[in-house]
Amino acid sequence: MDLALLARIVAAASLAPSVHNTQPARWHFPADGSILVMADLTRQLPAGDPLGRDMGVSCGAAVEGALMALADAGIASHAVEELWPFDDTVSFPGFRLAARIVTSGEAQPSALTTHVASRFTWRTHFKPAPAAATQALGAWASGTEDVTLAQAPGDLAMLAALADEAGMFFFRDRAFRAELLEWMRLSRSHPRYQEDGLNLDALRMSALEGLGARAVLGSKLFEALDAIGLGKAVTGERSKTLSASAIALFHRPREESPVASGRAFYRFWLNLTRLGFAAWPLAALADHAASAEICARHFAIPSERRLINVLRAGIGGAAPKRARLPAQSMIL
Ligand SMILES: Cc1cc2nc3c(=O)[nH]c(=O)nc-3n(C[C@H](O)[C@H](O)[C@H](O)COP(=O)(O)O)c2cc1C
Repeated sequence: MDLALLARIVAAASLAPSVHNTQPARWHFPADGSILVMADLTRQLPAGDPLGRDMGVSCGAAVEGALMALADAGIASHAVEELWPFDDTVSFPGFRLAARIVTSGEAQPSALTTHVASRFTWRTHFKPAPAAATQALGAWASGTEDVTLAQAPGDLAMLAALADEAGMFFFRDRAFRAELLEWMRLSRSHPRYQEDGLNLDALRMSALEGLGARAVLGSKLFEALDAIGLGKAVTGERSKTLSASAIALFHRPREESPVASGRAFYRFWLNLTRLGFAAWPLAALADHAASAEICARHFAIPSERRLINVLRAGIGGAAPKRARLPAQSMIL
């Protein structure tokens, strides 16, 4: 593999979803022809993701993106060795090893590759889905054990309310708000506006709304609003959540490494794209343990399965321009 091909694979892998668009996956190409994937620990979210699970999921999604890009280039991946469980932060100081990809032989492109370019996070109201699309989504979900689909109005209402409550659990933590603000690019003149984090276009915010978000999140104003019962009015997404045609709860075996879960999560999201659905995570439902427990009980998700993420799905619109790091900066 020449350098240009390696850069192409890293660029394709970086199109995978990552928490707060932190893009933590870094790539090392040892002389033996394997590919080492590791998490850049400076991109962990100590307040929002203290255990690094979402960072591991993000690395796993990037690994899956790399496997698809390799297959697209005709290169088969013989094995993906899991390195995350070893918690090795010593071999490459400042990084946690995530996985080793061993390539060999030739491959056919993956059927999901064609949807990589059109997958993105849609962060506003959804348009109603045609009945045929909703039926196809239901049929697909019932054929996979990883997805529990909520479509009944009562279930959507319950999840929308619970998600806003779970969100408040995080927003009430000043460190979480500061960290979120640090990853927000609320002005178009931000030097990393097109590189990483959550920019105005991705958040569907005007410049004025960006100023408002900074004022609320970056000062004591949030606490003041919360004290008079307006916290949820500021952070809540209820009406947007209720515009989704379905909410998909994605779960995987509890003992699985976040990297393996992240690989499956990316395939799950690409399948929603393939079926014509835009998607928007409600990660708070999975990250807030008590809410995840309520979801598991309500939807009869077996206790040996862990809720990895929850995606609202519906009909979206045009994608904002992607903010991504240059591939070269992700290669060690
Ligand atoms: C583990 C994980 C959790 C996420 N949680 C949320 C979330 O709660 N809300 C949200 O709007 N986006 C969430 N996202 C989506 C990312 O912010 C998004 O993938 C990233 O900004 C890149 O944008 P793109 O998906 O449009 O390519 C999450 C992504 C991952 C991988």
